Amino acid sequence: MAKTAGFEIGSHALHIAVCTKKGVKKVVSETLPEGAVREGRIVSYEALADFIKKTCRKKKLHFDTAGVVLPTGLVFSRRIQSPLMTAEQLKVNLPYEFRDFITTEKDAYFYDYAVLGTVNSTEEGHENEPVELDLMAAACLKSTVADYKDMFRRAGIKLAVAIPIEMAFTNLIPKDIDHAHCLMDIGHGAVRLYMYHGRKYESTHIIEYGMSSLDDIIADAMHVDPFVAASYREANHEGCQELDACREIYSNLANEVQRAVYFFRYNNPDVELEHIHLLGGGAEIMALRDVLSETLSIPVLDCSEIIGSASEELEAALGAVGAAKQ
Ligand SMILES: Nc1ncnc2c1ncn2[C@@H]1O[C@H](COP(=O)(O)OP(=O)(O)OP(=O)(O)O)[C@@H](O)[C@H]1O
Ligand SMILES: [Mg+2]
Repeated sequence: MAKTAGFEIGSHALHIAVCTKKGVKKVVSETLPEGAVREGRIVSYEALADFIKKTCRKKKLHFDTAGVVLPTGLVFSRRIQSPLMTAEQLKVNLPYEFRDFITTEKDAYFYDYAVLGTVNSTEEGHENEPVELDLMAAACLKSTVADYKDMFRRAGIKLAVAIPIEMAFTNLIPKDIDHAHCLMDIGHGAVRLYMYHGRKYESTHIIEYGMSSLDDIIADAMHVDPFVAASYREANHEGCQELDACREIYSNLANEVQRAVYFFRYNNPDVELEHIHLLGGGAEIMALRDVLSETLSIPVLDCSEIIGSASEELEAALGAVGAAKQ
């Protein structure tokens, strides 16, 4: 059976998922070499290519095709409604939908879209007639895609797809889910909230700090350097994840998430956000999960509704699984 690999390069770890039509066969999250990615940007494509190659070999990963997730910072993703038109017309029109973000060098970008559905007429007697397209559209610098392709080529991998993370998650959300929900990625450098209505992407909210912000606090409290603090944090050494100063960060985070929930409600008064699914490595910090559950007005869940079963490995590599399923 054909195997597909999905790759996601985080700021802390390289996530890889190998899937077949039947499901996920293997997931790997491997800590990146120091300094390879800074603030979500790849510093050395060459070094990362070698790391990808080495990791695939070490973990004995075999696959036929490969896809990569492009991080939020490198892609503009948005949900748009447009009048009914042909694929050809859409191609011409898409750049205009991004005129707020891309003001110069329109031609330097790739534009792509996925049709989420159609919107019917509100005119009496014409209620079953579609008049608008409901789209998820994305724009990405051509040079970014070229850099990624080159990097994977150097790693001995031919890249077949590069998709935004929002699209990767859409691939995973079961077709029968029609409630609104939030996927909360608790990452190393940031926490990202992805709002969906069923499988339809709505919006993204980024909180610009992640679990690495605990390191200075732990370093201070336990009199070690931030590098050692990072290893303490991951292992919850001497219960350092439960330090008061850490809890303060969890509490700030929870308040920011609550604000985003209210903001979503304000913008979508007819839609009730039902719950939040936690993913990313930070989802394993129980003290953080507890603060989120206590603070938020909606339930906090794992990802089992999305991916069938929830495990630490899957939660960390969810984006990679979505890329493999493209
Ligand atoms: N089991 C664990 N317990 C506690 N913390 C963990 C655990 N596993 C990972 N982490 C931490 O969670 C954070 C996020 O990990 P993750 O693997 O999601 O990072 P990433 O995807 O590279 O980051 P980003 O999405 O911000 O680019 C990291 O700081 C990592 O050290
Ligand atoms: Mg991540």
